Amino acid sequence: MGVLVANCGEIAHMNDGDASKPLVGAAMMDKEANVHPPGMGILVSGSSIDRVSDSESLCSEFAPWWDGSDAMVGEFRVLDAAGKAVIPGLIDSHTHLLWGGDRSSEMRLRQAGMSYKEIADAGGGIAKTVRSTRGLSVQELTGIGISRANRATRTGTTVMEAKSGYGLDTESELRLLQAINEVDQHTNAKILPTWLGAHDFPHRRSREEYLEELVCEQIPAVAEQGVAMWADVFCEEGWFSNEETEDIVRGAAEYGIPSRLHVDEFADSGGLALAAELGAVSGDHVAKSSPDSRQAASDSGTMQTFLPGTPLVLGLPMDAPLASCIENEWAFSIATDYNPNCRILSMPFIGSLVTTRMGMDPFAALVAASRNPATTLDQPEVTGTIVEGTRADLSLIWSDSVDGWCQTPGENPISTTIIDGSIVNSNN
Ligand code: NIG
Ligand code: FE
Repeated sequence: MGVLVANCGEIAHMNDGDASKPLVGAAMMDKEANVHPPGMGILVSGSSIDRVSDSESLCSEFAPWWDGSDAMVGEFRVLDAAGKAVIPGLIDSHTHLLWGGDRSSEMRLRQAGMSYKEIADAGGGIAKTVRSTRGLSVQELTGIGISRANRATRTGTTVMEAKSGYGLDTESELRLLQAINEVDQHTNAKILPTWLGAHDFPHRRSREEYLEELVCEQIPAVAEQGVAMWADVFCEEGWFSNEETEDIVRGAAEYGIPSRLHVDEFADSGGLALAAELGAVSGDHVAKSSPDSRQAASDSGTMQTFLPGTPLVLGLPMDAPLASCIENEWAFSIATDYNPNCRILSMPFIGSLVTTRMGMDPFAALVAASRNPATTLDQPEVTGTIVEGTRADLSLIWSDSVDGWCQTPGENPISTTIIDGSIVNSNN
């Protein structure tokens, strides 16, 4: 069984140079090297892309019986793109997918002048979500996660990283991770788990006691159960210090678990430089990181991942220096940071934020949402490209230009999504 996508508009194949590496600098804007012109087709066989070539010849070779309708005859289902552009499956490399409860009441507190930290200190923020998440069973969490992952898929997300972090004790963190692994089994999108026991300090326990639990209990248990691919720490003034972060990252590394870290969200504490020094896969938020830290990240192969949804919902300036990352050829990605405070599951909406509010080129934004994050995932079949022999994860969009992927902030730009070779989503 296969799918022949005929009559494509532009196809963002993203195959310039060595596709196992991120695109940086001017290459992120190079459509000539990364986009096929209209008139091509894509043949999907099983779960992978078999051929990308001229639409007419693909049709006469593989579907000579095709009469222009969507009917399925023979081996291939022909999907008439009718000039719609095709983009790679979107990769959301930073989400807090699983939690219960509601934090809507925090908006009025922010408008009254309270900061994220002040709301947290008053019992809101992460602690409030922990209280409403701990009571949920694996089954309940799994149901919540499936519904959210399916919503993300409707806007073109085909691979999603998902963090624990609202349990803050061994048993609850493991329950969240088990649920994330369950969600992966029951959704089309691939869901990749990260342990974030170090998201905050739980109430009524000393700092030292919890740090000891993280390193001596949570990490070994997570490793033993094999439920997480990465470890994460909220490394930020007021939460985990650089020293504490280092202990946790090194502790996880002893069990072969690499890190992707929350750093420099509200202030530059040298978190990204530390992430680089520790060989973290990615440093995320990085809104306040210094140019030196960014250079260090680039030198060590640590991806910078910008999360512009967070300053949006917190009413903070959206001034992360994307242009200077391009100028200096520093690799970066973008992601949603979906969490109770930032309820954005749509990568195209994040693309619209960076293009309309941060001056980023729409094609560069697509690179930052596909090929670049793919290089951080340790999943050889997830490439963020549309290339023969790779896993068929792609979307048709309601535009003849691939740049249209992020220019409908209030509407879904996705027409049809294929994941692992199957049509999973049709917003026609
Ligand atoms: O990445 N900053 C830390 N963690 C999340 C927010 C978590 C929350 O507010 O519940 C973030 O923005
Ligand atoms: Fe986050």
